[in-house]
Amino acid sequence: MVGTAGLWPVSPLGLDFRQPRRLAAEPGAAELRLYVKPGWRRRGVGSRLLTAVREHTTEPRLIVDVASGSPGEAFCLRHGFRHTGSRRHELLTYCDVHQAWLGELVDAEHPGYRLTHWTGDLADAPGVDELLRGPGRPGNAVLTAAETDGDLAAYAVAVVDAPAAPRAHQYGPAVLAGHRGRPLGRWVTAALIQRIREVHPHVAEIEAAGADDDPHLLATRRHLGFRLLRRTRRYELALP
Ligand SMILES: CC(C)(COP(=O)(O)OP(=O)(O)OC[C@H]1O[C@@H](n2cnc3c(N)ncnc32)[C@H](O)[C@@H]1OP(=O)(O)O)[C@@H](O)C(=O)NCCC(=O)NCCS
Repeated sequence: MVGTAGLWPVSPLGLDFRQPRRLAAEPGAAELRLYVKPGWRRRGVGSRLLTAVREHTTEPRLIVDVASGSPGEAFCLRHGFRHTGSRRHELLTYCDVHQAWLGELVDAEHPGYRLTHWTGDLADAPGVDELLRGPGRPGNAVLTAAETDGDLAAYAVAVVDAPAAPRAHQYGPAVLAGHRGRPLGRWVTAALIQRIREVHPHVAEIEAAGADDDPHLLATRRHLGFRLLRRTRRYELALP
């Protein structure tokens, strides 16, 4: 075996924060994961794998995230992928989090709002509101939300890589229109960081990705102790 290709729901698990409340896979797009062993590169293997994917998929759009200046980026450019944005990947290590400080952030009053949590599995998840109203169960996902009078105002989600894996991936926070201008994003993220450790004590670090040009998201994560891990560039290929 010299190379592999696969299509996945657009990460994170199809969670699309441009459409708040939505947890189902983004329609009309799939994430392409293509890999050729180093000793076999530049021999057309990647191109043939891409051709095979194109022949077998009905997805109208393929998405990849690649490092700037990498072979992956050169490959995308060669095959007509279009650059559609840049993403920051950041890491929070629990060793660097002062638990008492985090606790104060979580316990701070946000008049009119209250925190709720849900744990379970996001596969085939209906939507954030439905999850919060439904029963929690053991699973790899933790959802933390701020509600006001039963209405969803903000939320963030984390998914643990595997049952005993040390890393969780965080998505969000998303703050819904009408609730912005209050630090709800920071609040739900702080509560999520605390909650993950309660539900999955083996988790040692949290990775979060987001658009590189979102100053609010960046400020929220910086405040909580996330540090830049890497930058990637997003490319998309529209299929006929
Ligand atoms: C990206 C990757 C799959 C390419 O596989 P590959 O078998 O080397 O690709 P091909 O031989 O079909 O390359 C096709 C064209 O892409 C471009 N390309 C690929 N690798 C390149 C490199 N290192 N530098 C410059 N151009 C490159 C070239 O135009 C190449 O054509 P050429 O060799 O005739 O010049 C491989 O480098 C890889 O597995 N990288 C790590 C995983 C990754 O980044 N995956 C995301 C890509 S979707």
